[in-house]
Amino acid sequence: MKILVIGSGGREHALVWKIAQSPYIEKIYCAPGNGGIGDLADCVDIDVTDFKALTGFAFKKSIDLTVVGPELPLTLGIADAFKQRGLAVFGPSKEAAVLEGSKAFTKNFLSKYNIPTSDYQTFDNSEEAVQYIHDNQPPYVLKADGLAAGKGVLICQNRSEAFQGIEDIMEAKKFGDAGNRLVIEEYMEGEEASILAITDGERFVTLPAAQDHKAVFEGDKGPNTGGMGAYAPAPVVDDALLHRIEEEIIRPTIEGMKTENRLYQGVLYAGLMITKAGPKIVEYNCRFGDPEIQAIIPLLKTDLVDLMMEVAEGRLKTKMPKITPRSCICVVMASGGYPGSYQKGKQIYGLDDVNQDVMVFHAATKKENDQIITSGGRVLGVTATGKTFLQARERAYRAVGKIAFDGAYYRKDIGHRALKR
Ligand code: GLY
Repeated sequence: MKILVIGSGGREHALVWKIAQSPYIEKIYCAPGNGGIGDLADCVDIDVTDFKALTGFAFKKSIDLTVVGPELPLTLGIADAFKQRGLAVFGPSKEAAVLEGSKAFTKNFLSKYNIPTSDYQTFDNSEEAVQYIHDNQPPYVLKADGLAAGKGVLICQNRSEAFQGIEDIMEAKKFGDAGNRLVIEEYMEGEEASILAITDGERFVTLPAAQDHKAVFEGDKGPNTGGMGAYAPAPVVDDALLHRIEEEIIRPTIEGMKTENRLYQGVLYAGLMITKAGPKIVEYNCRFGDPEIQAIIPLLKTDLVDLMMEVAEGRLKTKMPKITPRSCICVVMASGGYPGSYQKGKQIYGLDDVNQDVMVFHAATKKENDQIITSGGRVLGVTATGKTFLQARERAYRAVGKIAFDGAYYRKDIGHRALKR
């Protein structure tokens, strides 16, 4: 088979790494790819939103399956564009990807289908949002309605932070048009978990629970990022809780989307808060979580190409993916200053010094004159497995210690909740 992966981050590197292990594979392409993906796939310089060029490329190269990594092309309808040309694609349609594309749609959907989530209100103008803050007690959770690269959620501990947040999102348009609408939610206490379900729109399987670390600083302090590290399986979700999540959240979501004529095929990522009252939806994403998938894929024994092809053809047969009984952790190395401004173009040293059994997934790198240099905020996902969580963690951090670039920053407490357990 010839596979095309769309995207350029750590998620796409992990996907390409796993796809390359499938016995079906003749060739992998990645558009646009990055400095690490280039070792396993032919990187093609096409933008992820240039559907005409991407479908044309897939057609010309007789691609058997295209796997879409990021949310932006999915919410813009890339899966529809591929299907219209008769090309097999893994990823939900535009109508289905709205679960990530609009927080307001999702909140209404959750309420209509009685899927547990926090109370909320949606605002189209800032005056009403300000009034809501006056009328309610902190803390407040402010969410830009549209896509904001994981950064459009603000947890505000007091009124003045909330007023500033409303100003930033709705008036200064810090996240662009994503802030035309605002959702303000009740703050949920608990521990977060990410459940990724692979579905053909009717049947689904779930992957091991993962836990992300969204805040930039240790102790979960500071602004939200796309994710500073993750591990799986996350012990906060035991078998009984996973079953509950499947029945109370995943199944009704898939059935509800079918009822809405928005058949959901691809990965449904449920971002959850495990509260005292049970699991509740924080957000859905319409693609593999990143960095979560970097910590899940090394545990997956089932052939991912098989699984994705079954979904693309709407005939999911796999009942339960085979999972290796190990632990896996991914520590993100980022450019100093991220998620604010940071410098790029720094040479990365030590990539060849890490042990062979550690996977260094590239998230924002470029190859220039045979050197790997940084090209974005989250640069690498240093990922290791172990018989135990502690062993995996120790291996990953040992590898992180061998890699260096000017301004490199990483959290030293990835997995702190699992450690406490
Ligand atoms: N790690 C969070 C996300 O993928 O959205």
